Amino acid sequence: MTKSNLTYQSFLISKNHRNIKNNHKSIVIWMTGLSGAGKTSIANELEILLFSKNIQSYILDGDNTRMGISADLDFSDTSRIENIRRIASVSKLMNDAGLVVITSLISPFEQNRELAKKIIGDENFVLVYVKCDLETCEKRDVKGLYKKARNGEIKNFTGIDSDFEVPKHPDIIIDTKNNTIDDSVRQIYNYIKAKLKLN
Ligand code: ADX
Repeated sequence: MTKSNLTYQSFLISKNHRNIKNNHKSIVIWMTGLSGAGKTSIANELEILLFSKNIQSYILDGDNTRMGISADLDFSDTSRIENIRRIASVSKLMNDAGLVVITSLISPFEQNRELAKKIIGDENFVLVYVKCDLETCEKRDVKGLYKKARNGEIKNFTGIDSDFEVPKHPDIIIDTKNNTIDDSVRQIYNYIKAKLKLN
């Protein structure tokens, strides 16, 4: 790659203009957690709340993005890192475009999440750990994938034969074992609402 031959192009309409037009700042709410922890359900309900408040948003969900932009990637450690790099880059663009981005990706490694924060920018990045123990996620098994992983039909399944590193410094911890989705959404909204306010 000839990065040295590239020049970053700035345009006259900035993120700030878009934020003023939308009447809110744009941030990225990065949700991490095991499969079945509740990331997608929380993202869905959070977006409904934001929508009702006229806040422009978009959800980037791992299952969906892996059918498109990351369709060529598997679940090896290197592919997961590349997956996160891509989704963080798309989040950054959407964030610059004025949207509140909600990501719903396992993003299992500390290194993944640090990279995402670096790409997106610390000031725009809210890390939400959607916490739920493996036993509970496995009991829920909404997609039937834990069963397949236990049977050996799926390899490198997070929590079974692939690691999930608990985030060291999340901004918010959501406990979906002991709280309802509504509680979780409120907890996130209460944290982000100050960050969405224009100065
Ligand atoms: S990540 O690790 O790269 O962040 P991502 O969130 O995009 O993962 O995709 C996870 C989704 O893919 C899960 O919700 C699950 O439905 C599906 N999936 C299929 N195979 C696996 C696997 N081996 N490990 C984890 N999730 C898997």
